[in-house]
Amino acid sequence: MSSELNIRFTLRPGGSLSGNVRVPGDKSISHRSIMLGSLAEGTTHVSGFLEGEDSLATLKAFRAMGVDIEGPESGRVVIHGVGMHGLQAPAGPLDLGNSGTSIRLMAGLLAGQAFDVEMVGDASLSRRPMRRVTEPLALMGARIDTAAGGTPPLYLHGGSKLKGIDYTLPMASAQVKSCILLAGLYAEGETRVTEPAPTRDHTERMLQGFGYQVGRDGAAVRLTGGGTLKATDIDVPADISSAAFFMVGAAIAENSNVLLEHVGVNPTRTGVIDILRLMGADIEVLNQREVGGEPVADIRVVSSALKGIHIPEALVPLAIDEFPALFVAAACAEGETVLSGAEELRVKESDRIQVMADGLVKMGVKAEPTPDGIVIQGGPMQGSEVDAHGDHRIAMSFAMAALRAQGEIVINDCANVNTSFPGFVDLAARAGLKISNLDL
Ligand code: S3P
Repeated sequence: MSSELNIRFTLRPGGSLSGNVRVPGDKSISHRSIMLGSLAEGTTHVSGFLEGEDSLATLKAFRAMGVDIEGPESGRVVIHGVGMHGLQAPAGPLDLGNSGTSIRLMAGLLAGQAFDVEMVGDASLSRRPMRRVTEPLALMGARIDTAAGGTPPLYLHGGSKLKGIDYTLPMASAQVKSCILLAGLYAEGETRVTEPAPTRDHTERMLQGFGYQVGRDGAAVRLTGGGTLKATDIDVPADISSAAFFMVGAAIAENSNVLLEHVGVNPTRTGVIDILRLMGADIEVLNQREVGGEPVADIRVVSSALKGIHIPEALVPLAIDEFPALFVAAACAEGETVLSGAEELRVKESDRIQVMADGLVKMGVKAEPTPDGIVIQGGPMQGSEVDAHGDHRIAMSFAMAALRAQGEIVINDCANVNTSFPGFVDLAARAGLKISNLDL
């Protein structure tokens, strides 16, 4: 795994971002394309697939369960589906690396299989909470062992007969919602999940794209087990979570003007645009269209003076992965930015509240963590050496901070940028970031 290498980013301060940028494919949609394509009847063609370590971990796991998958080659993947009951027992544990989405969604998908399966991950994934999925799955009849703290490895005992449940999520989590819905495909009767706030709905959309009936009443999503999936073609849009670094970079750096191309703008993902606009950013969403059941657009971002805001809590789940970048925007804004209702940030690939606060404070910014958020006072940023703690989004957020820093920024532990954004350094350098990386 590349997380065992220490990749260090070094950034000269200043500069601006410009030009057309197409960031890699959406991670959430890429994972789901492999999962549903594998279980479908027929051949699924995927384009725009994210060739990052996380989605590749999912791809390899399904290959290990006997699915014939060609590629990826320039984002193209061909999946020869085996049908709902065609997966085979893997020869050993499935290694899902750094990927929470893989392990949580696959826990649901594999809970109703006939065979046993063990799922393991890297040091970060091995610290992440899994009871949020194992508890509802146990209610459905699954038998799953975890490590003592409810963390991976997960050991799923095969041969369990699942039954549908009516479950209210204790937290706004698309991974937990998706896990339960995917288990519901194998359950007897109806499975119904109610969310406390809307979260990304790619699972629901893609199931429908594969011809599976999914109902929605208000905050509840439901499906009935025992159906089949029919192969389809999937065009994965560029990942708005990766585009977010360039949105923030272009907003904070003088003389910037960036056009982000073919970005997924599913309304359950666009909180970052809403929050940046509330801060005064100049963002245009252009050429909106629908591609394979997902809304897509080009996004133009021009530099502007940002101001601090109280971030509306309703936007938190809709921007959950973009907060590290938004904290950098807040550090460059005039006045105070307050985030609350975001305790989920503490259980991501790192504790994103603490790790961002530590780095911003090192850069001379006033950033005070709270149990469920942070208070950031905009102000000058000094050059500094900071630690990404192996978290891809932390590394890329601090890289963008260099555009406004007064001295060199060095970021340690950046190898996991490859989990979601292979080619980040080259693409960012082409757009104007003064970045180089060192393989230590
Ligand atoms: C994801 C859901 C979110 C997000 C993650 C991807 C998904 O996680 O942070 O990067 O693809 O369903 P949570 O469900 O834990 O919020």
